[in-house]
Amino acid sequence: MSISKEVKRITVHTLRQMKEAGEKISMLTAYDYSMARILDEAGIEVLLVGDSASNVVAGHETTLPITLDQMIFLAESVIRGTQKALVVVDLPFGTYQGNSKKALSSAIRIMKESGAHAVKIEGGIEIKDSIKRILSAGVPVLGHLGLTPQSIYKFGTYTVRAKEEEEAERLKKDALLLEELGCFGIVLEKIPTTLAAEVTRSISIPTIGIGAGDKVDGQVLVTHDMLGITKDFKPRFLRRYRDLYKDIFDAAQEYKKDVKNFDFPNQSEQYK
Ligand code: KIV
Repeated sequence: MSISKEVKRITVHTLRQMKEAGEKISMLTAYDYSMARILDEAGIEVLLVGDSASNVVAGHETTLPITLDQMIFLAESVIRGTQKALVVVDLPFGTYQGNSKKALSSAIRIMKESGAHAVKIEGGIEIKDSIKRILSAGVPVLGHLGLTPQSIYKFGTYTVRAKEEEEAERLKKDALLLEELGCFGIVLEKIPTTLAAEVTRSISIPTIGIGAGDKVDGQVLVTHDMLGITKDFKPRFLRRYRDLYKDIFDAAQEYKKDVKNFDFPNQSEQYK
């Protein structure tokens, strides 16, 4: 008799059950195999292959330049590093807006070529047809409302969204619509805590907040930010758990010193 050591994968249904049970959901971004493996083994339930890779991996100022091919490359690397986490991949800018057939073919490419489990897309009513078509193919969709970085040139700034009544009302309607369409959850980015709480109470699918306060069903952060690899990004909502910029900087300087001083490699670090 063989004893199966198969690890049970988190699914979109698990997340719904977590909301019902009042258990918070943890989500972090991942863009490569090695980091995905660590985060998966640490028990993070959802790994997001975010288009924030455009900023923290590729060094662009915005998330707009990253391509579908590049997202697929990152996503397949992340998938190979996970056994348990649900892996969600951002549909990048220009691959789903205004053309639902294109949206479906982008989502299918991500699912087929990377092996990911779901896609995330930014927006509400304006992308209703794209969401419907992707869902009709059986691809789980995570919505994203509030500050949607792919629209940065429309907003003009990265400040808190939906502080005014009109935008808050629109966001509440969009959240209800995303639930009605069949999204399995919604990321709420940089909106007032009271609004995020109201949205969270009004829908049965989980909300995952980033800068949306403590009354949401889960939290997401960009891993490079929470580890302190990025140095200059300091929004109020960000908790830095480590200062890896300093640790890596110091390690690189120590290594350089050892090389220059003929101290690396030592005798035990060489082949006889
Ligand atoms: O791309 C990303 O990392 C995201 C998170 C900020 C939610 O969309």
